[in-house]
This record gives sequence, structure tokens and C-alpha cells, in this order.
Amino acid sequence: MKRIGVLTGGGDAPGLNAVIRAVVIRLSKEKGEQYQCIGFHDGWAGLRDKSTVDLTPEFVGSILHEGGTILGTSRTNLYKKPEDVEKALKSYKDLNLDALVAIGGDDTLEIAYYLHRDHHIPAIGVPKTIDNDVLGTDFTFGFWSAVEKAMYAIDDLRTTTMSHHRIMVVECMGRHAGWITAYTGLASEADFIAVPERAVHIDEIAKVCSRAREQGKLHAIVVVAEGASIGGVEPKPRVVRKSDGGWEISEKIERDSFGNVVLKPGEIAEAVARELEKLLKVEVRGLALGHLQRGGSPSAFDRILGTRYGICAAEAVVGCKFGHLVTLRGHLVDTVPMKGMIRENQTEKKRYKLLPKEFLEIAECFYA
Ligand code: F6P
Repeated sequence: MKRIGVLTGGGDAPGLNAVIRAVVIRLSKEKGEQYQCIGFHDGWAGLRDKSTVDLTPEFVGSILHEGGTILGTSRTNLYKKPEDVEKALKSYKDLNLDALVAIGGDDTLEIAYYLHRDHHIPAIGVPKTIDNDVLGTDFTFGFWSAVEKAMYAIDDLRTTTMSHHRIMVVECMGRHAGWITAYTGLASEADFIAVPERAVHIDEIAKVCSRAREQGKLHAIVVVAEGASIGGVEPKPRVVRKSDGGWEISEKIERDSFGNVVLKPGEIAEAVARELEKLLKVEVRGLALGHLQRGGSPSAFDRILGTRYGICAAEAVVGCKFGHLVTLRGHLVDTVPMKGMIRENQTEKKRYKLLPKEFLEIAECFYA
């Protein structure tokens, strides 16, 4: 009997339960070798603290449609304290584990990669995040659910925005990546889309909105990423694009245990709304969709992608393809080595998959 640990780390995303369910059920059906899955509570904290739950096929039977994660999650960075890595390795040994399936974004995956590289823990990574910024895969699960939730929210906002002939500035999550914002904006006929990958000045947004008004459209929807780089607004943009295509943080700000910038929900939406109101002399409202984008049940796409990722992860366990990351490329789900997709140590700059310029050009084609 082989014992496989399963954990979910980082911000939750719709589709996590789909992966857990598929890993457990696929492994339970393996012919020959028998597998038993052990879930860890709250990401890497569960492995460190030996906080477990038996994951039987019955236990994961009816969770596909549920958002969040039945295992709980946290942003625990084992590599902050050497003793935490030691505790995690001890738990792994004490629990007689044979492999780990780590489901998470770049932070969770980098711990899995380091444990595999430095301590020979047989680990498989499954890429999750609504931000869709993990290298090596076309889409992370959770992303399409977030886009749909944001799109439906904007559908609702449009009626009130139209009635009042206002401009609505809607803020989407995504941190340093503009995937959610750009896809939501395109799906919602946004009048302007501002993402971290392309710095803009507030005057540019104002011009487009004012042209739309001149053409007789008296309302506008402006979609801004929480990490958007927008000149001419207070507070100053935190993420600044550089001429070489890279980006940097513009000021000393709060960071989480993995060094991620902690963005304040609504800050950029409010700042843009205030400035647009001054420039255009029309009523403007700002709204951050915030965690609503992460909550609730997964879309059909994410239920299926999560299921395919889980099956692939289970098969990678059976085939001993450790140190690999499950990926989607085109229509194919497969694995690639984690090396190259993840930074080699936590002092290096993080590596992300950012929104390509071409995507924004499609959206811009519809601007006034
Ligand atoms: O990484 C996912 C994400 O939702 C980001 O888009 C966002 O900036 C962050 O997590 C919010 O984190 P928290 O849930 O810890 O506030």
C-alpha cells in the first residue's frame, strides 16, 4: 500500500475540490498497487504540524461542484524557518508517505520543487490560481471561474451604470498579472482596460471615455487590475513597468510571507474614479470585486480542467514522474519538469506568466 499526501496552498480557487476528488478516485482505481490518500489541512502548515484527514473515495464523493477547498488552505512558507522544513520532513517520514501532490500557485509549487530538489521528496505540482500567472501551463484552474464571476457582476453593474449615465470603474484581482482584468473586460464590452503589463496615464482613460460620450454613449465601464500601473492618480501606482519589459514595485509596501505585494482592495478603483470625475465632470463610481471572484462554485471549464489535472497528477504518481508540474498546453494535459518554471531560490525575483500584448490589442480595437 502506497501512501500519498495531498495539500492545497495559497489563495483558494474554484476547482480545488475537483483536483482532490480526481486524485483520490483515480488512485483508488489503480490496478495492482494499492494507494491511500492522506489530506493535509491548510497547505504546508498541515504537513509541518501533521494535521491530516483520510481522503477516501467516499469522502470526496460529492465535492466537484463546491468552491473553496475541503482541505483548507494557508500561505505558509516553510522556507521562512529552517525548523519548519525539518518538521515537514519529519512528518513526511513519520506518516510513511511515498509521495506528495501539492496543489497551488507559484508559492506552493516552489516549496514542492525545493522539497523534491533538496530532500528527494517525490512531489508532483498542480497549478492553481485565479490569476493565471503560473509559467508552463496555458491555464490554471480557477481563472475561468473568476472571469465568469466578474463578467456576470459587470452585466449587473451595467444596468445601474446606464440608468445614471455614469462611469463605473471595476477593479479585478490578479496581482501583477492582467489576465482576469483583460479577459473580463473583453467579455464585458469594457470601454477601457488597464492592466499591469501596460502602463497608462489617467488622461488616456479619460480621453477614451469622453470620446464615447461624444459618440452618444453616456455610460462607460472601465476595468482596472488591482496591480495596474496608472499614471496621474493618487495613490501612485505601486507596480511600475520598465522600458525593458520588466516591472518593479514603486514604493515600500506590505508583503506576505512569500514576498508578494499585499494590495488593498478598492484602492486603485477609488483613485481612478476620483480622478476621472475631476477630469470629465461626470459621476464616476469605483468598485472592487475582490474575493467574490474567488468564491462560489467552479465553472464547467474549471470542474473539467481540475478533474483532468487531478487524473494527470495521479497518473504521474503511478508513473513516478516526480519533480513535475501538471500542465495544459492547447488541448493536452501533460506534465513538464518543475525546474525552469519556478525560481531556484526565494531570494531570486519571482517568475510569472504575464498577459501578452496581442490580447490587449484585441480589446483596444473596441475602444471609442
Ligand atoms: O493570488 C490570488 C489572489 O486572489 C490575488 O489575485 C490577490 O491579490 C490575492 O490573492 C489576495 O489575497 P488574500 O486572499 O490573502 O487577500
